[in-house]
Amino acid sequence: MRIFVYPGSFDPVTNGHLDIINRASRICDKLIVLVSVNTAKTPAFTVDERLELLRLSVGKRDNIEITSFSGLLVDFMRKVNAKTIIKGLRAVSDFEYEMQMALLNHNLDNEIDTLFMMTSIQNSFLSSSAIRDLAKYGAKINDFVPAQIADIIIKKLKK
Ligand code: COA
Repeated sequence: MRIFVYPGSFDPVTNGHLDIINRASRICDKLIVLVSVNTAKTPAFTVDERLELLRLSVGKRDNIEITSFSGLLVDFMRKVNAKTIIKGLRAVSDFEYEMQMALLNHNLDNEIDTLFMMTSIQNSFLSSSAIRDLAKYGAKINDFVPAQIADIIIKKLKK
């Protein structure tokens, strides 16, 4: 069984992430969307809130699992017997950081590879921090996140 793991902070999930989730789920048997910890970031939403926003956005799908992990990504990969990490690439600016993570993870476990999927052009300018910024000032975010979570994000972040 081909299991892909799509890790990220998802703070919060955006249409850009959902585009990757939809496309990646079509080329594997099971996609695990993993809310994980980037120690360099201070999240606005708790892990449970981020999981809930993902669940509301993705809905019930047979081959998609949504979960969280707070350790090293390669340890999670081993735990679920997955060999492939999937990541979205938005622009050249993502490349250096992503390459470093992919090489580091492969170095930690040479059975693990990272696949990159180009983000769709209409999402290439999106980021979770931009959504948080817009929401903080009460701007409309409906074009950038699923309708069912837009109000929840605004409610939590609007000053
Ligand atoms: N569309 C829109 N935005 C996207 C996107 C897409 N397809 N893909 C990524 N982004 C955005 C994210 O929203 C995020 O935006 P922000 O910086 O404004 O919050 C940014 O791009 C970076 O996202 P991502 O690549 O998912 O990185 P991350 O920092 O959210 O997550 C982890 C990185 C959690 C996956 C990584 O730190 C990790 O694996 N941690 C576990 C511990 C570990 O194993 N460490 C060693 C790894 S080398």
